[in-house]
Amino acid sequence: MLLLKVKKLNNSFEFYKFANQTNELTHNYTNMNGKYWNEEIETMPRKQLEKLQVERLKKTVEIAMGSEFYAPKFKELGITPESIKSVEDIKRFPFTTKNDLRATYPFGIKSVPLEKVVRLHSSSGTTGNPTVILHSQKDLDEWADAMARSMYCIGLRNTDIIQNTSGYGMFTGGLGIQYAAERLGALTVPAGAGNSKRHVKFITDFGTTALHCIPSYATRLAAAFQEEGIDPRNTTVHTLIIGAEPHSEAQRKRIEEIWGAKAYNNFGMSEMCGPGVAIECQEQNGMHIWEDNYIVEILDPETLEPVPEGELGELVLTTLNREAMPLFRYRTRDLTRILPGDCPCGRTHVRLARFQGRSDDMMIVKGVNIYPIQIEKILMQFPELASDYLITIETVGDNDEMTIEAELAQATDDFGMLQNLTKEITRRLKDEILLTPRVKLVGKGVIPQSDGKAKRVNDLRHNH
Ligand code: COA
Ligand code: AMP
Ligand code: ZN
Repeated sequence: MLLLKVKKLNNSFEFYKFANQTNELTHNYTNMNGKYWNEEIETMPRKQLEKLQVERLKKTVEIAMGSEFYAPKFKELGITPESIKSVEDIKRFPFTTKNDLRATYPFGIKSVPLEKVVRLHSSSGTTGNPTVILHSQKDLDEWADAMARSMYCIGLRNTDIIQNTSGYGMFTGGLGIQYAAERLGALTVPAGAGNSKRHVKFITDFGTTALHCIPSYATRLAAAFQEEGIDPRNTTVHTLIIGAEPHSEAQRKRIEEIWGAKAYNNFGMSEMCGPGVAIECQEQNGMHIWEDNYIVEILDPETLEPVPEGELGELVLTTLNREAMPLFRYRTRDLTRILPGDCPCGRTHVRLARFQGRSDDMMIVKGVNIYPIQIEKILMQFPELASDYLITIETVGDNDEMTIEAELAQATDDFGMLQNLTKEITRRLKDEILLTPRVKLVGKGVIPQSDGKAKRVNDLRHNH
């Protein structure tokens, strides 16, 4: 009974009444006591917002002149802060890609001296160069502000108890959510990834009101509750922040139903900071991307020209509020579109539709980004294997599972050897991709070929 009361109370706040119009634009949230609603920025008329973007772009260019990577490019293209007159000038900038990050590993794109850098986050992988993102203290503050703003936008307050199921460490969903929730003034539970039973206990004992988790884990955790004989609908959880992997509207509805809670789509990306780039407001109709922090372009991934308004294309972002490692026209490879029209919530920042795939072959499994080439490189280290392999990803019960079938170079009936080999391949793959695949060694010719070209990934999950 008591639990239900908490739930109801937290769902029925009137958030526009919290409006605080006295913040400064330069540091948006100083002394706000957890009121992360900056009406001036969030509802800024488009013309003014563009003016702000131009100012911040100039400033960002000035900072990036300190980057060995960007300075020569800017020089060649005649890009200086003074030469920037409008947001349209973004078209003069070169693109930045993940390959650029890899090629300049680890610190080649930094724009400030290393003394100013206080943290880095890095992608998985040891076979090639992973990507590294650098943060100054100001970057971390801005990031925490942006995610705290996102939390406030979906109704979370300093009275909430926010439990995080993301991996801490290199995954930005760990610390990114942590610092933001603390800034908001919520009680935070940094439980981290894994150990669902402990999540169940914490939620039950602490009266957790909000969860940050990837959509597939929302259902896995709900199943863990059911195993304990508890209906997740009877917990205190009233809000889920779900993101980091694609999911459909139907999946969201299912999550909301099994949890008896609201689930909001949240977009983040390590290269941009982490979570806190874009979030759905309470209208749940597209994710407002914080345009005071990013210039948004939707481009045809082939021609790199803008797609017609409202059409699907690749999201390309320029950071406007970062100093250690600003990125210009970063090709996210995520496919989405801008939703037309104004949002009834009053926010003027454009809304991104649910992501509809990628323009590269990156897979996201259990919230971990994986490229087939990472798997291939590990398999190639084993002389016992031939060159063909197939990665199958499927939802089994409430789990997403990855199976890797790899062809043996030579047939053998030495089961001891096969067992050891399977174990060693699994271990090395886990080191590389951070999750545990099921490895199946198969005879030559077993993996099907279509049109003579090997199919490497078979993604059977609902959304793929
Ligand atoms: N978030 C949190 N916990 C997860 C998870 C996820 N995305 N995916 C799986 N888990 C849990 C499982 O439920 C399991 O716990 P349980 O047995 O008590 O229920 C435990 O983690 C191990 O899962 P399993 O599938 O056996 O392990 P794995 O070796 O294949 O994967 C993980 C290891 C889960 C640690 C790894 O996938 C991970 O760190 N995922 C989280 C990534 C993340 O935080 N992404 C956010 C980026 S913003
Ligand atoms: P990372 O750099 O590990 O934070 O992963 C970023 C990637 O995760 C993005 O480029 C997207 O492909 C994916 N992603 C993050 N949030 C979402 C979301 N809400 N919906 C779909 N995909 C997402
Ligand atoms: Zn809105």
